[in-house]
Amino acid sequence: MAEAQDKGRIGLLAGKRILLIIGGGIAAYKALELIRRLRERGASVRCVMTKAAHEFVTPLSVASLSGEPVNEELFSLTDEAEMGHIQLSRAADLLVVAPATANLLARMAGGLADDLATTLLLATDKPVLAAPAMNVRMWLHPATTANVALLRQRGVLFVGPEDGDMACGEYGPGRLSEPMDILHAVEDFFAVTPAPGVLAGRRVLVTSGPTHEPIDPVRYLANRSSGKQGHAIAAALQAAGAEVTLVTGPVTLPDPVGVTVLRVETAQQMADACRRVAAEGGARDAAICAAAVADWHVVPADEKLKKDGSGTPPALRLQENPDILSGLSAPGPGRPALVVGFAAETEKVAEHGRAKRLRKGCDWLLANDVSTGSGTFGGEENAVLLIAADGEEAWPRMSKVALATRLARRIADHFTGEASAAE
Ligand code: CTP
Repeated sequence: MAEAQDKGRIGLLAGKRILLIIGGGIAAYKALELIRRLRERGASVRCVMTKAAHEFVTPLSVASLSGEPVNEELFSLTDEAEMGHIQLSRAADLLVVAPATANLLARMAGGLADDLATTLLLATDKPVLAAPAMNVRMWLHPATTANVALLRQRGVLFVGPEDGDMACGEYGPGRLSEPMDILHAVEDFFAVTPAPGVLAGRRVLVTSGPTHEPIDPVRYLANRSSGKQGHAIAAALQAAGAEVTLVTGPVTLPDPVGVTVLRVETAQQMADACRRVAAEGGARDAAICAAAVADWHVVPADEKLKKDGSGTPPALRLQENPDILSGLSAPGPGRPALVVGFAAETEKVAEHGRAKRLRKGCDWLLANDVSTGSGTFGGEENAVLLIAADGEEAWPRMSKVALATRLARRIADHFTGEASAAE
């Protein structure tokens, strides 16, 4: 099984350039094995060691295994040669941080650039995969939890840590993943990441977040959507070269870089914004509806609703909102070439998803389980069933960022397949 899995991965790393940043932890020795495995599969590996890493592995062994010079703290950050090193982080296809210590993660989250490793991590425009390793208490500390959440939100990918016996005698999460698991995470990254620029010239609309439906001037109806999935999709499509317009309800997330962002509050405003974007050609190639749009709005009161002393609560009159996904899916001139919807279900996910795809008229529907305990709404992870007219694909539970990357790749493959079929 493991062998078959390995066979499917052959060639994924050929010619890929990895910049490996080795942090200072007892697990740093595992980085040596990782270098060997990466190179066996055809990747070139350039290494940077933090000062603390020198306490655990020698630059000589790292250089011998990688076959490349090791970059260290030999230059001042104002040195001209340093500029060349910054280029290192741009020339790479992927930055891997292993082991990523609590200190290194904190410096990454804080945007520090106080040594070569963090300077490269701050200066890079390439994806970063971190493999944390630290004492269990350090991993569980709220400071580390917050740092990791922030880094995830910014698109940093993580592998591990694993549960196990720690060098310090404690047991729990904090062990660096095994080199083969880190290797597989690197391969997974290349397996799903669309080639840069593959969506160049494609115009795509993405909806994200919840909507807020006012009840009166101070209250509103909302839902638990965080916008993480929709924002990650917009960022992944942009990274693949697409011209992306993101129409988002109220969220606390930063705007994805390079994306045109239109902020709205209500479902009606979201529908109007999407209609305008589509009319201007901004959804010509694809529309991805990831927003959790309220199905109804309240006919809002002009003044704040007051208790009238009778003990009878006021009746809220609900009216149906426009269905944005159905509107975009409707046949006619100007329909996006590919319309993708999500289905938030709490039971019979596949069955309801299939029916919803037909009802809404979209091309693909990503059905996900949002039942209590699934952790999907507001969480970091998502598992979906992709339902299309010609088949279904069950995608395993993965981070929302990974799912967004995979969807961008799937969309790119769809367009590439169509283009070659037309030749
Ligand atoms: N959607 C939309 N406009 C709406 C409601 C939903 O664009 N007014 C989109 C969502 O963005 C999502 C898909 O429709 O892509 C399905 O959303 P979901 O909440 O699962 O379905 P509903 O239409 O609300 O159906 P139900 O609540 O009956 O399951």
